[in-house]
Amino acid sequence: MSRPVLGVESSCDETGVALYASGHGLLGHRLYSQADMHAAYGGVVPELASRDHIRKLLPLLKALLDETGLKLRDLGGIAYTAGPGLAGALLVGAATAQALAWSLDLPVLGVHHLEGHLLAPLLDAQPPEPPFVALLVSGGHTLLVEVTTIGRYRLLGDTLDDAAGEAFDKTAMLLGLPYPGGPALAKLAEDGDSNVFRFTRPLCNRPGLDFSFSGLKTQVLLAWQRSDRRATTRADIAASFEAAVAETLVIKCRRALATCGLQRLVVAGGVGANARLRRTLQRTAEKDGFRVHFPRLAFCTDNGAMIALVGALRLAAGQQDGTMIHIRPRWGLEDLPEVA
Ligand code: KG4
Ligand code: ZN
Repeated sequence: MSRPVLGVESSCDETGVALYASGHGLLGHRLYSQADMHAAYGGVVPELASRDHIRKLLPLLKALLDETGLKLRDLGGIAYTAGPGLAGALLVGAATAQALAWSLDLPVLGVHHLEGHLLAPLLDAQPPEPPFVALLVSGGHTLLVEVTTIGRYRLLGDTLDDAAGEAFDKTAMLLGLPYPGGPALAKLAEDGDSNVFRFTRPLCNRPGLDFSFSGLKTQVLLAWQRSDRRATTRADIAASFEAAVAETLVIKCRRALATCGLQRLVVAGGVGANARLRRTLQRTAEKDGFRVHFPRLAFCTDNGAMIALVGALRLAAGQQDGTMIHIRPRWGLEDLPEVA
C-alpha cells in the first residue's frame, strides 16, 4: 500500500477530510456540515462559512487520524480543494494544507472540486471505467461532461441560468420549506402525485445539451399562488417539479450518450442523491441498454474523500504545486492537465 494522501474539502459549507491510499482505497473520512448554521439565513453566508471551517478543520483531522490509527508522519501527500468555490472558505483549506505540507515536507496539490465530484464514483468497489458521460448536478453546477480518460474532460452542456440544485433550493423556499431545500423538497414530493401539475421540460424540444431551470420556479410559484394551498397540493407541486427536473436531466443524458456514442453514464453531485432522478435514470438505462453509475449517497454531496482520491491520482502522476497558497474561485474543468 502506498502512503495515504490527505484530502481537504472546504469550498462551501461542508468541511471534509479523508485519507486515501492508492492500491488500498479509502482509509477513512470525516465530514462536518454547516447547514444548520446557515439555515437561519436561508442560504450560505460566506464569511460565517470561512470562520466555521477554521473552527472545524483541525479537530476533524485529529478525529480522522485517531480513528484510522495513523499519524501525520505516515502521510505521503496532501490535496485540498483549490476551486471553484467561495474564496474565503477555499483559503482555509488551502492555507491549512500548505502549512501541513510545508511542516511535514510533503508534496501538495490544489484539486478541482468538480473533478472530485466527477471521479467520486471511482471510490466504489466496482468503479466505472472511462470513457463515460458524466452528469454533474450540484448546488452550483449542472454539467454534462465527456470523460475520455481520467483528467481529460470535454464540456458537452451547461446551465444557462440556475443550477439543478439551485432550482431545488429556490423552489423549496417558495414552497416555505426549510434550508437546505433540495432534500426537504424531495421528502415532501414522496407524498405527492407528479401527474397533477404539468411543468415544462425546459429546452428539451430543441437540439443541444444545455439546461435552463430558472423558469421552473416561476411556474411553481404561479401554480402555488393559484392553488387551494392545501398540504396535498403542495406535495403534488413538489412531486411535479421534481419530475420536470428529473425528466429534463434524463432526456439530456440520453442525448449526450448518443452524441458521444457511449453507453456508460456516471451521475455525480448533490442532486445525484435524489431518489426520483435515480429511479427515472435507472429505468431509462434498462430500456435503452446503457449503464448508469451513482456514487454512494455520502459521496454525492461535498466530501473530503473525492478530493483525497483525485489528489492521490494526480500526485502519483508527479503533479504537485509549489508553496504558494493558491486558490481558484473560478476554474474551468477543461483547463485541467491530463493525468499522465
Ligand atoms: O454537490 P453539493 O453537495 O454541493 C455543491 O457543490 O453545490 O450539492 C448540494 C446541492 C444542493 O442544492 C441540495 O439542495 C442538492 O444538492 N440536493 C438535493 C438532494 N440532496 C442534495 N437535491 C434534490 N434531491 C436531493 N435528495
Ligand atoms: Zn460540490
